[in-house]
Amino acid sequence: MTPEVVDVRILVTGGTGQLGSAVVARLRAAGEEVRVLSRRAGPEVVRGDLRTGRGIDSAVAGVDVVVHCATDYFGREATLARTLVEAARWAAVPHLVYVSIVGVDRVPLGYYRAKHETEELIASSGLPYTIQRATQFHGLVRTLLAGASRLPVVPVPRISFQPVDVRDVARRLAALAQDDPAGRAPDFGGPEILTATELAQAVGEATGRVRRIVPLKVPGETFRAYADGGHLTPGHREGEITFREYLKERVDAGEPHDRRR
Ligand SMILES: NC(=O)c1ccc[n+]([C@@H]2O[C@H](COP(=O)([O-])OP(=O)(O)OC[C@H]3O[C@@H](n4cnc5c(N)ncnc54)[C@H](OP(=O)(O)O)[C@@H]3O)[C@@H](O)[C@H]2O)c1
Repeated sequence: MTPEVVDVRILVTGGTGQLGSAVVARLRAAGEEVRVLSRRAGPEVVRGDLRTGRGIDSAVAGVDVVVHCATDYFGREATLARTLVEAARWAAVPHLVYVSIVGVDRVPLGYYRAKHETEELIASSGLPYTIQRATQFHGLVRTLLAGASRLPVVPVPRISFQPVDVRDVARRLAALAQDDPAGRAPDFGGPEILTATELAQAVGEATGRVRRIVPLKVPGETFRAYADGGHLTPGHREGEITFREYLKERVDAGEPHDRRR
């Protein structure tokens, strides 16, 4: 029997990605039958491409919920969503869950603008939906600081982050997928708000490469929006796994510094 003809309740787009794979694991642990959409063939995967539309109609057929974690970093975020929305409307999917980023309407970054446009597209699609915004993942913040940590002096922007673990975000998304459509859900943030200096110190301590950290003011409206905390949600610190705990796990797992994400 091919995966396409097995009845499942939930489709996860981007189910091969960082967040999506954690959502799939969480849902399967809760006993849900989950279909994963990917452009590449693989075990328990339905092949499809949200850019071209190939395979999307059969991917959404018969599901009760679509959790949309697939993303495009090259300006096609809304294109992907439009393809998905059209197929989901045709199949009368009862619930579409979309993951977005805290501050997409405040930080004037191209990728954020595309995510905001996608939120609006989904909200006006007529499909019952839930939109969950989350703060930056630990892996992204770690990657942002990784290059600099190889220099004798570490320049960091004079801004703060509220990093969150993908497993915590996956827990929230899985719960939302199992619940009724909620529209725009309350934001979801990491447990701590730390300056880039504190985060770089944590990376240095975890990797045994303690360096002098130099906070710099970065010009431009995007960094001003970050400096103003546009990407933070101080009232929502529901994430449980801290940045230091995340780093310690990676070190304990014996991963080389430069491959950690
Ligand atoms: N990173 C952060 O700090 C952060 C914070 C808050 C929210 N988010 C949001 O969380 C979501 C997931 O991010 P992530 O870091 O987990 O992403 P990721 O690891 O980069 O994974 C991207 C996924 O998108 C899929 N994909 C890309 N183009 C596709 C296409 N044309 N058709 C079908 N699938 C396609 C890929 O699947 P295949 O390659 O298998 O086809 C892959 O599974 C994104 O919406 C992102 O904006 C991220």
